Amino acid sequence: ANEGMWFLMHIKRLNQRDMQKMGLQLTPEEIYSINNQSLKDAIVQFGGGCTASIISDNGLVLTNHHCGYNVIAELSTAEQNHLKNGFWAGSMDQELKPQNLSVRFFVRMDDVSERILSQVNASMTEKEREAAINKEIAKIQEENNDGGKYTVSVRSFYQGNEYYYFVYEDYTDVRLVGTPPESIGKYGGDTDNWEWPRHTGDFSLFRVYADANGQPASYSPDNVPLKAKYHLPVNINGVKENDFAMILGYPGRTNRWMPAEGIEQNVKYAYPAWVEGSKRSMDVMKKYMDKDESVNLMYASQYAGIANYWKNRQGMIDALTKHGTAATKRKIEAKFDKWANKPQNKDKFGDVIKTINNYYSLTNEKAQHDNYLISLLRSSKFAILPYRIGSGLENYATSNEAKRKELRPRLLALINSLYTDYHLPLEKEVMAAQLELYTSKSNYPLPELISQEEMKLDFNTYVDAIFNLSMFSSKERVEAFLEYPDSDLLANDPLYKLSSALLDKYREDPEELQQPLNDFQRSFRLLVEGLRTSGISRIRYPDANSTLRLSYGKVRALPKDPRNDADKNNYTTFKGVINKYKPNDDEFDLPKDMLEIYEKKDYGRYANEKGQLSVNFLTDNDITGGNSGSPVLNGKGELIGLAFDGNIEAMAGDVIFDDNLQRTINVDIRYVLWLIDNYSNAKHIVDELTIVEN
Ligand code: ARG
Repeated sequence: ANEGMWFLMHIKRLNQRDMQKMGLQLTPEEIYSINNQSLKDAIVQFGGGCTASIISDNGLVLTNHHCGYNVIAELSTAEQNHLKNGFWAGSMDQELKPQNLSVRFFVRMDDVSERILSQVNASMTEKEREAAINKEIAKIQEENNDGGKYTVSVRSFYQGNEYYYFVYEDYTDVRLVGTPPESIGKYGGDTDNWEWPRHTGDFSLFRVYADANGQPASYSPDNVPLKAKYHLPVNINGVKENDFAMILGYPGRTNRWMPAEGIEQNVKYAYPAWVEGSKRSMDVMKKYMDKDESVNLMYASQYAGIANYWKNRQGMIDALTKHGTAATKRKIEAKFDKWANKPQNKDKFGDVIKTINNYYSLTNEKAQHDNYLISLLRSSKFAILPYRIGSGLENYATSNEAKRKELRPRLLALINSLYTDYHLPLEKEVMAAQLELYTSKSNYPLPELISQEEMKLDFNTYVDAIFNLSMFSSKERVEAFLEYPDSDLLANDPLYKLSSALLDKYREDPEELQQPLNDFQRSFRLLVEGLRTSGISRIRYPDANSTLRLSYGKVRALPKDPRNDADKNNYTTFKGVINKYKPNDDEFDLPKDMLEIYEKKDYGRYANEKGQLSVNFLTDNDITGGNSGSPVLNGKGELIGLAFDGNIEAMAGDVIFDDNLQRTINVDIRYVLWLIDNYSNAKHIVDELTIVEN
């Protein structure tokens, strides 16, 4: 019953089915209403990749620490280190405004499948199909954006078999209100990431500001806290096994329809390259980050992002292998193939499986290659930067004086924005490590760029040499180019040549794959259509794609685990936090006052019925990355926790849901409140909340 990430406009159906039976006490209208205030008005997409909720009538926003991580690091310096020490604004005027942070409210959605699909027919190529659909999408956007007030996004579901549009309103003045120290907010680090039992205080607080009329506005000291249409009440009565739990948020991506050979390709070709490439960069980055706190602050967020998916992809390899997921899917596809070759289906579906499998076998090597290349581009700033500025410089160099004068300010701004917050020795060594890995693993040794002789060099020596010759190795040199522009100089610049070659390779669309790709896309769409109409698949919800979903389930323990000292393996306690404590460790250190406060065991109204402080708990909701920061709600729609992770045993969940294994890891809202109220003494924040207590 707990499988599924559902559209809010479809909850009427679910509601009648089993949400009520499981404990939901809200009507569908109270969750999603276009015209009246409802739960959805308190749910926002945060910073593009996470979820958050509004928890006061002064626009207070609650999300994960790892979702606020990059802006907390940005707002920190080695001297005023909010990432390390935590931060609490004593009043609104002390809140900190990061450069770029926005939250997105969901206004409404609707089904436009018929309208979109009436534009296409079976004889179109995939490219023609895409063009026809995009034309219709542009019209739908135009009709629904209310004169530019809203952002309208039209998305495909079920592999292009259905289309829905979503209307959003974005607020761009969002400020940091408070955060615990990293040692609490990221307690357990990468060792505990994706693992249960867990003991992390993964939360941070922000505030949305608007103009005097409550409209979105860019930053101004005159802006006022947003009076959102709705904010979540907070329930501090605690949770127990089988309690109803509902999560609203923006899950990023699942691939529950992925064919067997696609899974096989990921397990054998794509993910191993991803894992290897990530680790190579992490090792280099860590070395420099550990030496210098200001370097640490520059790279902490990027490092955490790479490490997060490094562990995730290895977890997926292990889980998919262990559970034989590809074999399970193969059985389903054999069933489908039989159905597809019945006389009445054969014309349309007969070749689907063969076509799909052919495409994967043609692209296995490419998938591996691409993942090494992406690893390089993802972690090496100077692999991309010259390319990004290069075309502008080229244009500048070939323009006349008047035109140059006009181009100059924008180029300078671009240069300024790109040459910030990096550490050259780290960048050079990351690039060297990634180039070495890429050239050794791919059949594409950048022949024109790196000669056979150079290939034998130590890559650090090679990178040193090209950085010495290139103007892109410093902001001053690029700026000097604006004084003495010369296209030949640019064309021969070794970093520019390297960067352009890598990006050209990345964008390459090999001729021999065009037809197989076209046929694959069509077949994948038909596979999903056929699996649904034949009833072979019972999946009734669309894959996650960063659109708002509801997932419902319950608080649910995993089998007893000696690593968890709690009496039931569905929650953890503050005692467990202290048990893991390792002084001066990177991941398991704690602030000194945390230990002192533990001795007092004074948890007041935040204590559970055993007098302990509950820290994290488990539910069996179906969520994925992007749901981070999502509110966990009880049957009345009151906030009981904050979703922040999944368990590694269930990492095949991206492509196949396993009811027995899959769990969501949540911070107990009582731990959050205790950290704000008692540990951080930010009582004025607690006073803003609507707290429900027996
Ligand atoms: N695994 C979490 C997610 O993908 C991110 C946790 C961040 N913490 C960390 N130690 N890197 O949502």
